[in-house]
Amino acid sequence: MKNNDPVRLIIKEKSKYLIFGVAGLIACGLFISTLMLNINSPLICSFAGSRIIMAHTQLEAILHYATSHNVPEQSKAEIKLSYDVLRERAPCNFLVFGLGHDSQMWHAFNQGGKTLFLEEDPKWLKKVLQEAPFLNGKFIKYRTQLSEADELLKSYKFDPDCHPAKGIPLKENEKCKLALNMLPDEVYNTEWDLIMIDAPKGYFAEAPGRMAAIYSAAVMARNRKGSGGTHVYLHDVDRKTEKRYAEEFLCKKNLVKGEGRLWHFLIPPTVNSTATKSYAFC
Ligand SMILES: C[S@@+](CC[C@H](N)C(=O)[O-])C[C@H]1O[C@@H](n2cnc3c(N)ncnc32)[C@H](O)[C@@H]1O
Repeated sequence: MKNNDPVRLIIKEKSKYLIFGVAGLIACGLFISTLMLNINSPLICSFAGSRIIMAHTQLEAILHYATSHNVPEQSKAEIKLSYDVLRERAPCNFLVFGLGHDSQMWHAFNQGGKTLFLEEDPKWLKKVLQEAPFLNGKFIKYRTQLSEADELLKSYKFDPDCHPAKGIPLKENEKCKLALNMLPDEVYNTEWDLIMIDAPKGYFAEAPGRMAAIYSAAVMARNRKGSGGTHVYLHDVDRKTEKRYAEEFLCKKNLVKGEGRLWHFLIPPTVNSTATKSYAFC
């Protein structure tokens, strides 16, 4: 009986609207705060339509470079070689040997993709990640020294474990010293679209040298299963070791362009290999 009281019915109806209204306001609030928190998510792009919204890490990079004297070592012409490919391929998988003053730039160029930095110096790694905690940087230990470069370039030909024809996965390759078999699993489980080799240090005899990075990048590129090739960039090709290892493993025929001290290779997967000798990469 009481339920048919018209005054009560009106109050009941109004409170229903009030509940819906409050619930709607909460939902809107939650939606907007999710967008604010996930400023890097693709949702903001589709939500914004044609407006360009920069991710907070890109803004961080602008702020960093605008207020710092520490700029990347590569010249503008050198940087343009990878920048142009990243403009086409990003968001993609970008593996970078070494953390440096260029790291925030590489990360910003590959917004929304996976950019992983492999660093040999734990103190330097800690310092860079303190300044830019959004970078994905991992410590790695090399098994080589620059002083072994000449010997390794000769001896790998007689070591079947180093031969591409054997197809030994890098991770399981204990015997071939040129194979980086101690990398984080994330490296082996990802198919890399671009690989930048600007580390480890290779300018004194006890330094690791870039031999293993170059060899392993060549193996990763050859093992690619996805479409297209792997873009590999090698810096400091004015040095003897970088030049000779590039010619041996990355191959002159794959050289797309050189600029300053940087070479850009596009390496096709193994199926397209024309090498005749079992040890040969080129
Ligand atoms: C040969 S440098 C290349 C630098 C990079 N291209 C850049 O623009 O900064 C790479 C290696 O040098 C070392 N390194 C670079 N800058 C450093 C610094 N300011 N202090 C200590 N080590 C540094 C790190 O071990 C790094 O992996």
